[in-house]
Parts: sequence; structure tokens; C-alpha cells
Amino acid sequence: MTQKKTILSGIQPSGKLHIGNYFGAMRQHITMQDKGDAFYFLANYHSLTSVSDGKTLTDYTMDVILDYLALGLDPEKCTFFAQSDVPQTTELAWILGTLTPVSLMEKGVAYKDKVANGLNPNIGLFTYPILQAADILIYHSDIVPVGEDQKQNIEITRDLAGKLNRNYEQDLLKIPEELIVKSVATVPGVDGRKMSKSYGNTIDIFDEGKSLKKTVMSIQTDSTALEDPKNPETCNVFALIKLFADDDTIEEIAEKYRGGGYGYGHAKKELLGLIEEYYADARNRRKELAADPGYLHDVLREGGNKARERAEQVMEPIRSATGLYRSFNY
Ligand code: ADP
Ligand code: TRP
Repeated sequence: MTQKKTILSGIQPSGKLHIGNYFGAMRQHITMQDKGDAFYFLANYHSLTSVSDGKTLTDYTMDVILDYLALGLDPEKCTFFAQSDVPQTTELAWILGTLTPVSLMEKGVAYKDKVANGLNPNIGLFTYPILQAADILIYHSDIVPVGEDQKQNIEITRDLAGKLNRNYEQDLLKIPEELIVKSVATVPGVDGRKMSKSYGNTIDIFDEGKSLKKTVMSIQTDSTALEDPKNPETCNVFALIKLFADDDTIEEIAEKYRGGGYGYGHAKKELLGLIEEYYADARNRRKELAADPGYLHDVLREGGNKARERAEQVMEPIRSATGLYRSFNY
């Protein structure tokens, strides 16, 4: 029997998840949960680089757990856990850091982007890719499904695994493959830039009612008059409609755009209906799950136990190779 490949990915609980996160990451995680031995985690150590209030981090973490489970992540099919339940991750990150040239981190584009967007330039943010490398390497992951924006971090991961193996002259870490999820282009936000919580231009997955309506109605469009024909391909509303509608509906709406007499207001209402329908079941499931915190903790405990056990197996030979003194075993 061929061994199942280990698939691993994580998402930071650092704000409400939005439809860019859904189409760019979560949906693929959910589809891949039974395509191998899948490990998905809440990257809460990473969130500390931008969220330094304990209560807020706890709330965001619970939100992301609920979001994933409501959207179809099945803890029977994959290992779902919190990064902070696997302390071996930070242990490995430290060791990798000692082999990482400062110049490699200085080339990090994500750090520069985040600082340009107003994040506090702390050392955790600067060395974020090393912790991400540890996340991936500590489970001997084979495949890492991530969005295009994570490409550099995966390259750094491969680089660091090679450095550690060469330095200690042993195959201590497996070099993972990246799997850049190309099925979706960058999801635009209400202002037309990339949807991102740092731009405050998001449509949150589980927003509803008046608040969702207000957000959808605020999507920026050009000033073509109602009666004039419009180009669907240059319109933010249409780009979002394409994510939620089936092919026939997309074509029908595109025809309406081209035909004239169809305003952006009409398109926005159409989009609102599509979003509400698309997430209707998940919305109900989320409410049920929220009423059962005991279940959520059980899921994470079980996932954490499994992840920690795997991590320990990978970490033990690394500790030995480094020569670090240890007077106890876990
Ligand atoms: P944000 O930009 O809101 O802070 P993150 O950087 O935490 O989002 O992204 C988490 C995951 O969601 C990443 O895998 C990223 O590729 C994906 N993602 C985020 N925003 C978008 C978007 N607008 N379009 C497509 N994928 C996205
Ligand atoms: N940096 C990723 C993001 O912003 C989150 C993340 C942390 C991650 N560790 C990871 C993704 C390991 C994949 C594998 O989306």
C-alpha cells in the first residue's frame, strides 16, 4: 500500500474571515481533506504578530474554528488543531532560525507589505517565515496548498529544510512541495483592491442581514449610466458574482450588462441574493455549532494530540543531532 501524502495548511485567526479567504484558501482545504492525510491548523502563534490582546485572539480563534467546521471541514477526515497545542513548532523554529541568514528574511515581501500596511514591525513579524517553515516541516508534510501570496514562504521553507539537513548531514526534514491554488484569481474587495482585512474592504463570510447588504451596496463601480451597456469583465460586482453563480447564471447576467438598461444596483442585489444562498446552510450549521463549545474543544483536543505526537517523532532526532542537552522526555 502506498502511504498517503501529508497535506498541511494553516490560517491565522487574526480577524473575521472573508470571502477572499474562503475562495483563496478555505474552500481548497475543505476539498482536499480526504485527498491525503490532511493537517489543518489555526496559526495563532502567527496571529500574535498582529493581535496583542488576549481576549481578542481567543475570540478570533473561536470564530475561525466555527467558520471552518460550519463550511464543511470534517474532523473525522482530517486533523484540525491549534498551532499552540504543538510547542515543538516553536522549538524547531528556533533551531531553523539559527541557520537562517538575516539576508534571507530581508528579502521577505510579506513583511514589507505588512509593515507598509501599518502593522507593527516586530521581530515576530520579521521572522514569520521561519515559524511557517517549522509549521510545515514538523509534520514531514508533502504538500502545502496555499494561495499565490504564500509562494515565497514555501520557497523559504524548502530552503531551510535543506540547510538543516546539510548542516547536520542527515535527512532530518522532508522537503515539501508547494501547491499553489490557482483555481481562483485574487478576490477583489469592495474598493476593487485585493480583498484583505488590512484594507478594511472585506465581505465577511458570515456577515448577514443589513450589515451584509450595506457592504455589498458599497462596492465601487464606475459611473456608466443605467441605460448604457456595461462591460462585465471590468466590474468588481461581476467579478464577485462569478464566484457564487453557476455558468448559466453568469452568462445571463453578463448579457444583461452588455444589453444596457441594467444598473450596478441590480447587479449588487443579484450578488447579495447569491451570497445569502451560497452560505445559507453553513450559516445554520455555524449557529448550531456555536451552541456546543464542548464539542469544539473536543475536536481541537483530539487534533492537538495527534499533531503533537507526529511532531514529537520528527523533533526527537533533530534534538539529538543538534547536541542540545535534555534531561527529560515528554
Ligand atoms: P488578509 O489579507 O485578509 O490578512 P490572509 O493574508 O490572512 O488574509 O490570508 C489567508 C489566506 O487567504 C491566504 O492563503 C491567502 O492566499 C488567502 N487570501 C486572502 N485574501 C485573498 C484574496 N483577496 N483573494 C484570494 N485569496 C486570498
Ligand atoms: N502565512 C499563512 C497565511 O497568511 C498562514 C500560515 C502559517 C500557513 N503557517 C502556515 C499556511 C503553514 C500554510 C502552511 O495565510
